[in-house]
Amino acid sequence: MYTKDQILDLQSITKEFLESPHNIILDTLRKVLKFHEYQYYVVAMPLISDYEYDLLYQQLVNLEAASPNLVSKDSPTQRVGNSLNNNFETVAHLVPMLSLENSYNADDLNDFDRKAREGAQLDSITYCVEPKFDGASISLVYENDMLVRACTRGDGVAGEEITQNIKQIRSIPLSIPLSEYGIQQIEIRGEVIMSKKSFEDFNEKLKAKQLATLANPRNAAAGSLRMKDPKEVAERNLDAFIYHISFYTLKTGANTPDLLKTHSGSLELLWNMGFRSPQKEKKIISNIQGVINFCTDFETERDTLPYEIDGLVIKINDFALQEKLGMTSHHPRWAIAYKFKARQATTILENVDFQVGRTGAVTPVAKLQAVAIGGVTVSSISMHNEEYIREKDLRLGDTVIIERAGDVIPQIVQSIPALRKGTETIIEFPTTCPICDYTLEKEETEAVWRCNNPLCTAQIVERMIHFVSKDAMDIKSFGDANIRKFYEMELLKSIPQIYNLDFEIIGKLEGFGKKSVDNLKAAIEASKTQPLYRLVYALGIRFVGETTAKTIASHIHHILDLENLTEEQLQSFEDVGVKVAKSIFQYFHEAKNIALIKDLEALGLNMIQTNTTAVDGNLSGLNFLFTGTLTQLKRSDAEAMVEARGGHILSGVSSKLNYLVVGEDAGSKLEKAKKIASIKIISEADFIELIN
Ligand code: IVH
Repeated sequence: MYTKDQILDLQSITKEFLESPHNIILDTLRKVLKFHEYQYYVVAMPLISDYEYDLLYQQLVNLEAASPNLVSKDSPTQRVGNSLNNNFETVAHLVPMLSLENSYNADDLNDFDRKAREGAQLDSITYCVEPKFDGASISLVYENDMLVRACTRGDGVAGEEITQNIKQIRSIPLSIPLSEYGIQQIEIRGEVIMSKKSFEDFNEKLKAKQLATLANPRNAAAGSLRMKDPKEVAERNLDAFIYHISFYTLKTGANTPDLLKTHSGSLELLWNMGFRSPQKEKKIISNIQGVINFCTDFETERDTLPYEIDGLVIKINDFALQEKLGMTSHHPRWAIAYKFKARQATTILENVDFQVGRTGAVTPVAKLQAVAIGGVTVSSISMHNEEYIREKDLRLGDTVIIERAGDVIPQIVQSIPALRKGTETIIEFPTTCPICDYTLEKEETEAVWRCNNPLCTAQIVERMIHFVSKDAMDIKSFGDANIRKFYEMELLKSIPQIYNLDFEIIGKLEGFGKKSVDNLKAAIEASKTQPLYRLVYALGIRFVGETTAKTIASHIHHILDLENLTEEQLQSFEDVGVKVAKSIFQYFHEAKNIALIKDLEALGLNMIQTNTTAVDGNLSGLNFLFTGTLTQLKRSDAEAMVEARGGHILSGVSSKLNYLVVGEDAGSKLEKAKKIASIKIISEADFIELIN
């Protein structure tokens, strides 16, 4: 859209205007602000601070107020509107807004390609593939360079006029250089979306006002378009991808621009005119097998994007061919949507189980009517704590929306009160432990109810399950079921007994052949030499996760050194705050815990920190934290790279942090880090350079 020279020129005018406001020329100021809106909202590379933008914007408001006759229709000030001209009148689209046929697998895509090839009488077809944005679709009409109308899809033939609300979306230009391309009128289509980050912020605001939250960014975007007050729309941080030119008229005598011969060219044209088109996201692929491969691969990348997509759209690239194939009454024959597996589903909340964890915390677990989402069947989901149930007003018998996004544990998004029949009942939280009947307690600062009975059998079993688990001592072939079974049979009553099992009895149990007994024996034996941090983590000290365990282990020689450290000394470790230090201190000042550790030592477990750090220690002693969405590396890989070079990963921003690596759509961590001068804030690209 802007050449390098133009960018440099506009940036130097910006600086001049900021330094000498009396030199401002009205028309140029509008150009300058338009340029900075584009840099911020379309290319996501702001060249001035929000504060500087606001200063210049205010200058524009003042100058235009002094000379109202000089206000232009596409002035940045003209985005602001009032509810008086928001009538949502129904207007016909210049071209009906058809929807797309859906496909779900390779067979569907092969079918689509076969029909298209038959229609076109070709051996193979080139496609352009782009994200299927999960938002609300809109059409925009520009005439003589100006945005004149924006509409919702409506029934496809006519939609509602929402121009004033659309003007609040800063990535949609109010004017575009149509005349440069010899075009007089154009109707284009796109999708209004809310980024994952804006959606989270928006729901937080609703929560703070004790209003019902929204289920997904699509609903939030669609709902926003019909708001009466455009100012409220502006606050919602909407965005838009523009992906389709449905109609255009050329000025007399002009030739069709070359870019308007292919779909990929039209995306480039839209981008050049200043729209956020999927110009960088699109992929041109010369045959259907390539498309199929791309579709299956891309599904795994879905979570790395800062906005929601629900699939990909495959379009025949050549416009002449598109025209030849035409459309059915519902959808074009030249395009198809490839839908990813759905992530949300509705089901019935049938019952609640109250489970006691290793720290005594009582967790309500929803028992659901089984439902398939994202390729797995879900029938039970944690509801965390009582507050969670009350906040979402979940009731027995409710219809609930559940979500399973990528690797994330399934969640209940919300209940649907509109579907209540009146037979739903409030979920009663127990007052005593469901296992040992001990009275439950809740600390003032905590959300969980806890059973504080040290002899509660559920806790004893859960602590052992944690001890052998994969991230702790990693005793393979043990598993939850065996721990429970051995406990019930009184073969295993405490953690040290794991190393003293009676294999004669176990060998006679059903399902325990010689091979499985040998495997179990070997796994138990191997766990004795696990690195120290695994033992620190396996002990199940409250608030000590894997990362903190690694930090602690790296600062000590023998595990019992921790008996001699004060809370202040513990707090000097990276990533250890007041709460964690207190918990560690308490743990190592309880006689039964020290006795447990000594028992384990006597049984031959490793208690010593062996030097495992710094394969190539160029990051040794440095603390890192990643925030936002990384686009080139997987977060877990990036963290492993830091650790392999002797660095540490912290879980939060504090003065102990050396580097904050910022991905897309970073939020509160970035804001917090900006306030601590010693933290270096770097991009993902800087990080890659640093480790190389
Ligand atoms: S093309 C005539 N491209 O998906 C072709 N649609 O199920 C017009 N959508 O109604 C549609 N991303 O709202 C197209 N890259 C994309 C899209 C996209 C999202 C929506 C659009 C459409 C629906 C079809």
